[in-house]
Amino acid sequence: MVDLAMLLPLLRRGASLVTNDIADLTPGLKAAAQVLETGLCGKAQANLYCSWLAHQGFGSHFDTHEVYVLHVAGEKTWNVYGKHFDDPVAHTYFKTLGDKFHEDHKGPISLQATLKPGDLLYLPRGWYHDALASSEATLHVAFGLTTPIGLDLVSLLFERAVHDPLCRASLPDPRPDDGQALKEHLAKLGQRLAGFATEAEVQAQTARFVESFRYPRADIALPGDALSARYKRLPGDFAVRETAQGWALLNGKLGAPIPEGFDRIVAWIVARPGFDTGELDRTFPELELSKRQDLLAKLAAMKVIEVA
Ligand SMILES: [Fe+2]
Repeated sequence: MVDLAMLLPLLRRGASLVTNDIADLTPGLKAAAQVLETGLCGKAQANLYCSWLAHQGFGSHFDTHEVYVLHVAGEKTWNVYGKHFDDPVAHTYFKTLGDKFHEDHKGPISLQATLKPGDLLYLPRGWYHDALASSEATLHVAFGLTTPIGLDLVSLLFERAVHDPLCRASLPDPRPDDGQALKEHLAKLGQRLAGFATEAEVQAQTARFVESFRYPRADIALPGDALSARYKRLPGDFAVRETAQGWALLNGKLGAPIPEGFDRIVAWIVARPGFDTGELDRTFPELELSKRQDLLAKLAAMKVIEVA
């Protein structure tokens, strides 16, 4: 729970606000995350960054996943430096290098860009960067994308190796022969593991792993669906009628136009004392989430329905 009485004074003094894991919070964010996930075979996570005054939220660093910065408000100047490692991963080794290491290895600035609302900046993993708010208040959403990598194959090969007697056998004691038997055993193990990687079943499993490498996303929009999944119809003499100008929702003598294609849905809603959004979705599976939310908000504003 956020204590606004404490938060707002901190923000006014120049603190940055970071909100992690917001990809499922609105239909727009979720759609953007899904596009990244299906288009690039990865797991997308979205974090929101809001800062005030000329403030640098983070020191120069590189990320261990791909980053897509979507700028929303204000202006922010990004410095992109060089890369020191190819494709770093989220392992302690890369995560604990420290500020001095980063300062010593970031290199000269290779790109400086001032992002304005609507701009998108792609930061490949491993590339050093930092950012400075260059207007009074700035807001951006950073989509982080983690893709399947070679190291993930190690887990798949481990599962395969469990079924192989050579992989289960004890390793030879290196003391009697100065490690000769152990070296030969390791060479055999290496060949065996290489063989596993060429097996059709392991290759098919790996393909399935890559194709399905994304977060499951429920078809809900928070907080709306969690808080107001059930609606009731308000008192009124509602009817859906076709007029010379198109379909209209009548309440007694008053009428409001119904957008094209929504007449059946509005008729279904006013024909019952109440409904929940799950029922509505099952009855009209073609109704997109954003359009459904829009329609319910309009009907609520017109005092046709309200949250039960
Ligand atoms: Fe970053």
